[in-house]
Amino acid sequence: MRYADAPLKRGEFMAGMEGKEVLWGGRTAEKPNEEAFIFQASICIDKRLVQDDIHGSRVHVSMLSKQGIIPQDTAVVLDAELLRIAEELANGSLVVDESAEDVHSFVEAELTRRLGDAGRMVHAGRSRNDQVMLDFKLYLKQRGAELCGQIEALMATLLDRAEEYVDALMPGYTHLQRAQPVTLGFHLIAWVCALERDLSRFRDALFRMDECPLGSGALAGSDLPLDREETAAHLGFRAPTLNAMDSVADRDFAIELASAAAICQIHLSRFCEDVVLWASAEFGFLDLSEKWSTGSSIMPQKKNPDFAELIRGKSGRAVGNLVALLTLLKGIPYAYDKDLQEDKDSLFDSLDTVSVCLQMFRGMIAASSFNRERMETACIGGFSEATDAADYLVRKGLPFRKAHEVSALIVRDCIDAGQSRIGERTLEELQARSPLFEADIFDALSPVACVNARKTLGGTAFDETRRQIAVLRTRGRLSSKTAPSPIRK
Ligand code: ARG
Repeated sequence: MRYADAPLKRGEFMAGMEGKEVLWGGRTAEKPNEEAFIFQASICIDKRLVQDDIHGSRVHVSMLSKQGIIPQDTAVVLDAELLRIAEELANGSLVVDESAEDVHSFVEAELTRRLGDAGRMVHAGRSRNDQVMLDFKLYLKQRGAELCGQIEALMATLLDRAEEYVDALMPGYTHLQRAQPVTLGFHLIAWVCALERDLSRFRDALFRMDECPLGSGALAGSDLPLDREETAAHLGFRAPTLNAMDSVADRDFAIELASAAAICQIHLSRFCEDVVLWASAEFGFLDLSEKWSTGSSIMPQKKNPDFAELIRGKSGRAVGNLVALLTLLKGIPYAYDKDLQEDKDSLFDSLDTVSVCLQMFRGMIAASSFNRERMETACIGGFSEATDAADYLVRKGLPFRKAHEVSALIVRDCIDAGQSRIGERTLEELQARSPLFEADIFDALSPVACVNARKTLGGTAFDETRRQIAVLRTRGRLSSKTAPSPIRK
């Protein structure tokens, strides 16, 4: 189990089971087989839901008492004890008992150990099927909001860097061949646009998920007079879910969030591929801070972009988790089946992964320095001004396809003459290819002229790039230098 502690070992289990009952003990005369019990237990994964489980139980208890299902004084005692358990867990004086079957069993057992029969009242009108959905959603609402904050923080950092390098010329690539000159600021904004879509995907999934399953019971609702509107509102959900069976069977939100996480991780992976290339001696565009690179155990000269490589490498997990969830759900008959317990490990791993990678990537980019000279020099020599020469002729009235051919022939002339820029040709040589060329062609061919000529909406011209930065800042209300968000375990 990837982010969970190792399961209990033999013996620890029996010691843990001493004097304890499973929630379903009434049905079976014999104690469960040790290995089988450990196999089906989920406590080492779902223990991270413990505070959400307690929160849900407190709201459930309050509703039970308002509806006259349990006595009011019992509800007061239950609430106080649930709060105490939550506080003890938070301050470390109580730890989750990992011999329990799952987090729900643990909380109910702890309550019953402390309060006797009052503790046994908490589960009225509830099943672990709706309970686990509630805990999972409560956790994801908070976790999702944190993740959105981390994406915003990375966007803000990238926008700051884009502003810094709004006029730093660099080659733009297609097929990893120099294509047309752009600026580093413009390139970084391309990344921010991808992250903005990630943010919207997470928010969208979180909005759709925001319906409360509590009160759905095992699958069919309850014959007790539960007030689902009340618990949904109290727990901060938009509404109760509509259909009890759907409530316990639905895992769309897990797939959607795992998918948003996978896409975001793929974005980070692609950005990291750029970083790895840029940090190589061959490119030399980027100098990683020593704090954000590692050395080699044998080659004393090495400064490796391990962080970027590891972020790129972790995208395999995010994709794998998404496929695991889709595959998990494919064959599951309605409503709840134990297979569904496998949902959390995959999604937790995806969220943990993308969260730490967002933070690592942000730190790495914030600390990197970019080499303006190297980037600008790389703009020269690859004929990335050839489109501009063709567009010059288009402006003079030549059909584009013909202009393209003329420019290509000039590139060939240059290569034959051992020249690396169209600007190295004389005006007469250019006019031999097209009489439309005039002396001002030479002004149009420098990288800075090529960049600033691209003023179309979305283009790479300095001012247009500044406009894009302003749009992204306003749209996301991203002020510069957003404070870093804390790392969550
Ligand atoms: N640990 C279970 C899960 O995560 C809780 C629900 C158990 N329900 C049941 N009918 N066995 O899915």
